[in-house]
Amino acid sequence: MGWNTWNAYSWNVTELDVRNAADALVETGFRDAGYEYLVVDDCWMAEELADDGSFRNHPEDFPAGIADLADYVHDRGLKFGIYSSAGTETCAGHEASLGNEQRHAEQFAEWGVDYLKYDNCGDHRDRDAIDRYAAMGEALERVDRDVVYSICEWGNNEPWRWGRNVDGHLWRTTGDILAKWKRSEDDEFGLGVVDIIDEMDERDIAGYHGPNGWNDPDMLQVGNGPDSAQSQSEGFTVDQPFREAEQRTHFSFWCLFAAPLMAGNDLRELDETTREILLNEDAIAIDQDPLGIQGTRDETDGDREVWSKRLDGGECAVILLNRGDEPVDIETSVETVDLHLSDDVGSYAVTDVWNGEEWTTDGSLEATVDSHGVAFFRVGAA
Ligand code: GAL
Repeated sequence: MGWNTWNAYSWNVTELDVRNAADALVETGFRDAGYEYLVVDDCWMAEELADDGSFRNHPEDFPAGIADLADYVHDRGLKFGIYSSAGTETCAGHEASLGNEQRHAEQFAEWGVDYLKYDNCGDHRDRDAIDRYAAMGEALERVDRDVVYSICEWGNNEPWRWGRNVDGHLWRTTGDILAKWKRSEDDEFGLGVVDIIDEMDERDIAGYHGPNGWNDPDMLQVGNGPDSAQSQSEGFTVDQPFREAEQRTHFSFWCLFAAPLMAGNDLRELDETTREILLNEDAIAIDQDPLGIQGTRDETDGDREVWSKRLDGGECAVILLNRGDEPVDIETSVETVDLHLSDDVGSYAVTDVWNGEEWTTDGSLEATVDSHGVAFFRVGAA
């Protein structure tokens, strides 16, 4: 869990923004809720590497240097992450790591980096993805520091099959997430929340997911919308409001998927709804459940869907999803979902993650669900 600069700052991030974000993560309670890694995305580096191939910090935007910034972040009880690309350039066109992996891994370790997001932009010099990502994985293994290795290859070459073998800890399964429900024909690239939910299902990759090797459906867009910096960047089209129900659906599914929770909201403008969604303890507990299972779909009936995942102790998390434009009643039962309690349990305890209500049932699970919304339950023995 953590927070990354990209969705809120796009390519315009500065060292001061990162310091302010570190302070805000502490003050808002995000750090204490588990959002521990503060990751600086693209554009922290100078446009060109030094003559010996090493990285230099961006002279105007990151004048104090990365070691100094990492210290500032560590002093606030957070971990520090950084970004590069497995190509000649980052997506913003700054020179990146291909061919300089060991030198860069050593710089990261020296600076106190705890997490590397490794993107797929720039020229690949005819090297395939496994080769390029293994080069950095091996380089990170050789340095004297534990660095979480986040493979951002957009799911192009099925990284869930080889991510672990190149020492990766998580790998993006899909293209860039937009702060919207569904992509439109105008979008040059990027995916809406429901598009990513569908791709996670279609790719049938839950079996590759688990502790120390996670499918990553991309960062969170909760709290963002058409005005956020990434939405305004070239190539993205976000013109519709990203509704509250849609944002709750987004967070619920990422928790059901046991996905990495990397927030990307603008911490300078934290509103109550965003805070309430991102800091929901019951949702976070479902995400962080020790079994680390990626939930899957159990039932479809038109716009009504039922999804679930097994939790530690045989309990279960359940999502009732309404894809339609009108509110609907959705009903399922404990027999349909991934519940593994002993046969003599006749009565089940249900907690509604979003409104905190608790009740018991002898088997039926039901709710009236808003358009594009969910009901999100935890189910156990009564
Ligand atoms: C994309 C990546 C985004 C962000 C961006 C920065 O390739 O998927 O998450 O890192 O590059 O330029």
